[in-house]
Amino acid sequence: MSNNGKYMWWKHGVIYHIYPLSFYDSNDDGKGDIPGIIEKLDYLSGLGIDAIWLSPIYTSPMVDFGYDVSNYREIDPVFGTINDFLQLLHEAHSRNIRVIMDMIMNHTSHLHPWFQESRSSRYYNPKRNWYIWHSPKNGRKPNRWKSAFGGSAWEYDKSTKQYYLHTFLKEQPDLNWWNTSMRKAFFDDIEFWLKLGVDGFRFDAINMIVKDKKLRNNPLFFDYFNYKKKLATRNQPGSYSIIKLLRKLLDKYENKVGIGEIYSLPPGNSKISASYLGNGNDSLHLTFDFSLIFRWWNARSYYKCIQNWYDHIPDKGWPSIVLSNHDLYRSINRFGIGLHKKEKAKVAAVLLFTLRGTPFIYYGEELGMKNTKIARSCIKDPVGKRYWPFYSGRDKARTPMQWNDQQNAGFTNAKPWLPINKDFIENNIEKQKDNNDSLFNIYKTLIYLRKKHKPLNAGDWKPLIYGIKGVLAYSREFENETIIVVLNFTSARKNINLKMNEEMKILFSTHPKRSNKIQLENLQILPFEATLIESRI
Ligand code: NOJ
Repeated sequence: MSNNGKYMWWKHGVIYHIYPLSFYDSNDDGKGDIPGIIEKLDYLSGLGIDAIWLSPIYTSPMVDFGYDVSNYREIDPVFGTINDFLQLLHEAHSRNIRVIMDMIMNHTSHLHPWFQESRSSRYYNPKRNWYIWHSPKNGRKPNRWKSAFGGSAWEYDKSTKQYYLHTFLKEQPDLNWWNTSMRKAFFDDIEFWLKLGVDGFRFDAINMIVKDKKLRNNPLFFDYFNYKKKLATRNQPGSYSIIKLLRKLLDKYENKVGIGEIYSLPPGNSKISASYLGNGNDSLHLTFDFSLIFRWWNARSYYKCIQNWYDHIPDKGWPSIVLSNHDLYRSINRFGIGLHKKEKAKVAAVLLFTLRGTPFIYYGEELGMKNTKIARSCIKDPVGKRYWPFYSGRDKARTPMQWNDQQNAGFTNAKPWLPINKDFIENNIEKQKDNNDSLFNIYKTLIYLRKKHKPLNAGDWKPLIYGIKGVLAYSREFENETIIVVLNFTSARKNINLKMNEEMKILFSTHPKRSNKIQLENLQILPFEATLIESRI
């Protein structure tokens, strides 16, 4: 194992992503909170995860549900207090669970005191340049840059007669990372949490923090058609340099992790995601590659995408594996229409925990939580409000965790902030816990096996069947132990020959009745079967 055989939590472990508003409500206000997370730590520890990543819990007007921060050193009262947070750290650490916070460096809230000061006057204002202000060009906006959430990225400020930049909502003004005083103040905010003992950060939209100084336009319609051209608003050399400084800051402390959200174009451009790993030691520890998320359920296409991701990882770098998050569809909704979703979710679980790289679980994925239909009157996401009825936004994948079949799925005694998926009576943690064959128990077993067998958490990856005819197979090897993983993406039986004349032992199968010993030369794989086969030399 790398690092002299030491189990490194962020590299060999499993990270669980919590959307705090929807995890567990401890004080009956319909919204999840920190004491709620504390109450569920035993659940998480039972699942076997190594770390939790919390979507933002800082003080915020919640225009973008916490991704608009007005004070980076305080906890928003909706989630609790700083003492609750310290207790969470303590309780999590005592269960060997690390705590990763979200850090939003591209922008603050418009209510952040820095922005309030910045917009207060144009001249003799030390914080004016902490944000990106420009005068109108020929009476118009400074350029054509677009906000990722729709419309122009420029908002006019009548009182100072200049525009400010916002890559997301107008309530999320972009910070100016060329400004060294701002940079120092921001790094101090980050260090505040490191000193308190948090174990790392997921850096929001980190590849967008620096923009072209000359304000050059992006190619027209760049979002969808011109993505190969160089963009002035993403992946600028300056972002890479700042990330290197960030890494130095993290390295002042022991065992911290920096994880980058790299939203590339086209979505899931593995080369760009991997470029933020630097040489594997000087940049981010992990970055997200969303390419699997943007693939149809097809073994060949999955294979190509995994191979492509690995091909770009630097020698000393380490991949992450992610199937869903709070911005996108629930993974189970992407595994094709209608039939066999549950079976596919089990195959996907095996993939998630047996690929080379750190797996991320999005809360509820372990029970196959689905997208929830949100009526227009219940939409909370500003992006959904803007684009309804063409797009109803991200709420569908942010609905409350389904703990049991009681009122409000056991999430709250009040009216939940977002509707609960109607399937909670049948689909909830309590029910799945009692069923050996459930997705939840498969997650639990796989996490256990991944921790126990070094090939799975640290070994090399070698493809054996390249997704041809619906089957993907690969081996994971570490020292004298090999585990072969075979995944049948289809509803048909498949006969495969792994060209190994050995009898091996089944370590795990999504089809529990499978006999224990098998011949690799002539192996019949059942419909949607995912199997782990073990050999020790
Ligand atoms: C990416 C986050 O994942 C998303 O939820 C947020 O709205 C934007 N960045 C802006 O912070």
